[in-house]
Amino acid sequence: MANREHWGSKMGFVLAAAGSAIGLGNVWKFPYVTGSNGGAAFVFIYLISVVILGLPIMIAELVIGRHTEKDPVGAFKQIAGGTTWEFVGYLGVLSGFFILSFYSVVGGWTIGYIVKSITGSIAGLHDTAQASEIFKQYVANPYLSILYHVLFMASCMYIVIKGIKNGIEKWSKILMPLLFVILIALIVRGITMEGSLEGIIFFLNPDFSKITLNSILSALGQSFFSLSLGMGAMITYGSYLSREDKILHSALWIVLLDTLVAILAGFAIFPSVFAMSLSPQEGPGLIFHVIPAVFARMPLGQFFEVLFFVLLFIAALTSGISLLEVVVAYITDEKGWSRRKAVLVMGSIITLLGIPSALSFGVMGNVTILGNTFFDFMDKLTSNYMLPIGGFFIAICLGWKYGLENTIHELDPDTRFISLKELWAFMIKFVSPFILFVVFFMLIKDDIVALLQKVF
Ligand code: TRP
Repeated sequence: MANREHWGSKMGFVLAAAGSAIGLGNVWKFPYVTGSNGGAAFVFIYLISVVILGLPIMIAELVIGRHTEKDPVGAFKQIAGGTTWEFVGYLGVLSGFFILSFYSVVGGWTIGYIVKSITGSIAGLHDTAQASEIFKQYVANPYLSILYHVLFMASCMYIVIKGIKNGIEKWSKILMPLLFVILIALIVRGITMEGSLEGIIFFLNPDFSKITLNSILSALGQSFFSLSLGMGAMITYGSYLSREDKILHSALWIVLLDTLVAILAGFAIFPSVFAMSLSPQEGPGLIFHVIPAVFARMPLGQFFEVLFFVLLFIAALTSGISLLEVVVAYITDEKGWSRRKAVLVMGSIITLLGIPSALSFGVMGNVTILGNTFFDFMDKLTSNYMLPIGGFFIAICLGWKYGLENTIHELDPDTRFISLKELWAFMIKFVSPFILFVVFFMLIKDDIVALLQKVF
């Protein structure tokens, strides 16, 4: 397509793609998964999986995107047209649809908590039991959950409607630096508190006896989700790259920034949690149960609390827009709709689809699908099934069906390390599909056993 919009600058692209990657997965999920999996040893495994699984798939998605200059469906039509491989593209767009619908609910909570921390309604909650009670009441309130979910979706739609350069890129260039500044401020606040050293040790000193098969699987799954892989988000962002941009170089930056923010988020959270003698093993509620109690006990707590939830909101927003962009790119490229119409219609449908997820913590708490609330079902379906399957087929399709010889020229022509390209080719053909297959199998094993037990 001759008049396809392109990123305005290489840095703009890297910030936008890093914005997609850096999200609730880094600031909300990574700290609690680390906290529940023994700290530093988990971090160590996470780093390995970023390098051996995340980076090669990241490069593969960007290569497919730039090579075809299409949305995920169009891209697979081009490289494997007329075959069943096309479903990989559809699976990706559908994943974007599903993920955004529940991701936006959590995004909405961050807006609600910005409001709460400004009005002071969560100030002075000294213990986590009180804070978690407030959180439960808040997410159970159907009006507030839906209101903030709608507000979050509206923010994503507002940015995506303006397009690549004047919407996504422009906002990423403002929001991402702001995210870094806030993160640094929170780290300085955390590590200068008395008693914070214990938190740093927990985060840096590995205890390998805590590593189990499950923590390895969580690390692999987490790296995939955190890097926005497996559904064509990076194919879509890659499709707006110009011919001169260097993919290897950009991919390294995106992965580096995403990993850095996950690690920094740990430094922003664990030192304060330990300094306040609270538990790091709180699970998904870590941010919303423990953090208000942390801030309630610290000087200037309310100010830092507002900053913290603004940080979470920014992280969620720049990821939300990438999820929406995948769906919008598909509709505009394949169906020929205008961007405006695609954003308004698809955004509204996703908003509606998110409503049962928003109600999952209250009035629809008893409605379950295969034993999960609607929210958990959407989360599991996408993170455990759709993304690993998508990643597996992306690697297989590129490595075996289309052939790497047709795309390897997309990689930086002047790279001095020819062997780097060969290494990547080896990873995509053999290592990534193998790991993804094993991860997928292990992740669903329990679900299958449970299902079989029900049937028989
Ligand atoms: N990576 C984001 C996070 O860490 C979430 C996300 C955005 C995502 N786009 C995605 C996950 C595409 C998988 C696929 O929160």
